[in-house]
Amino acid sequence: TTHDVRDTRGRPLRDLRISLTDRCNFRCVYCMPRDEFGPDHAFLPSDRLLTFDEIERVTRIAMQLGVRKVRLTGGEPLLRSGVESLIATLKGLDGLEVAMTTNGALLAARAEGLARAGLDRVTVSLDSTDPEVFRRMSDTRVPVGRVLDGIDAAADTGLGPVKVNVVVRAGVNESSVLALAERFRHSSVTVRFIEYMDVGSTNGWDGEQVVRADQITATIAAAHPLEVLPPRYEGEVARRYQYVDGGGEIGVIGSVTTPFCGDCTRARLSADGQVYSCLFATAGTDLRTLMRSGADDDVVTETLRRLWTRRDDRYSELRSGPGEAPAGKRVEMSFIGG
Ligand code: GTP
Ligand code: 5AD
Ligand code: SF4
Ligand code: SF4
Repeated sequence: TTHDVRDTRGRPLRDLRISLTDRCNFRCVYCMPRDEFGPDHAFLPSDRLLTFDEIERVTRIAMQLGVRKVRLTGGEPLLRSGVESLIATLKGLDGLEVAMTTNGALLAARAEGLARAGLDRVTVSLDSTDPEVFRRMSDTRVPVGRVLDGIDAAADTGLGPVKVNVVVRAGVNESSVLALAERFRHSSVTVRFIEYMDVGSTNGWDGEQVVRADQITATIAAAHPLEVLPPRYEGEVARRYQYVDGGGEIGVIGSVTTPFCGDCTRARLSADGQVYSCLFATAGTDLRTLMRSGADDDVVTETLRRLWTRRDDRYSELRSGPGEAPAGKRVEMSFIGG
């Protein structure tokens, strides 16, 4: 039996984003800049990572409070060994949708196994199809062709509809927007452009680096006229458009200029078992210590329920409105999984 919870703004808990590791094989400049995440960076030791049993337990409890969908993230989720068996376990929970967000580097080799394990959908992060721009954004030796192969493999294996997430940064990959849109026109893949956000405290964000959602759509529409599509579900973060000529669909996520806190139904679970009620949270609730101290399901459920019923977060609205955005050292994107 489920007992849906609502937060102080009436928002239900529907999605749980689960970070499986804080490690990544990329060093995207806006997420894990190499000078902050170098050889000396202290990643989580393995005994602080939630086990798959613990992840299943949190998910089962979250489902009793209203969760219908989990998204596996990282860092890079495919670096966590045995993720296929976790997926199979989670798909054993009745009615749960399981998606993943990956950088795609390892996807071509793993797509078939992931599909077989029951993964419903993947989203691949890719900021440019131009090899030089891609390397500059992602700071990796993995060639962009391998990510593109991963996207194709996922689409061919039925891990779709596949989405591609593009973080747009002024003066860095702005010029790649149209080429990305065109690469996936007339395909089953939906490209979604994301306004660059001030997540974490290490990426040196400033408002000048944001390319606005309306500029992005104008750039694409100038070459290929677009029309607005209605949202597919309540709380969808991307605004959807389709090409007038039947070339398919794109999405634009205006995280900065058109915040979507009003119907934000997402909770985030870090790899070490902290639950965060907002992407911009400064502190989480430690479920790992609680579970390892022997707490039974009722106690864990009550802890999660209390966290959600007290939730008041709306960081992005406050940042863009007349109000003051809360200060404090925020958790990093690579830790909380985006
Ligand atoms: P689907 O619609 O099911 O594909 O999932 P989704 O759009 O929730 O997932 P995805 O991880 O692809 O979200 C896309 C991007 O939007 C994220 O990577 C973030 O950059 C941004 N985003 C997602 N959720 C939030 C949120 O709660 N707050 C903010 N500020 N940004 C978010
Ligand atoms: N702003 C917007 N999106 C970001 N991502 C990572 N850092 C940022 C940021 N500062 C995206 C990644 C990935 C998803 C998990 O979040 O590109 O698609
Ligand atoms: Fe890794 Fe994704 Fe962060 Fe890039 S954005 S460093 S791929 S976790
Ligand atoms: Fe949700 Fe926080 Fe993002 Fe607003 S800023 S949409 S409350 S995660």
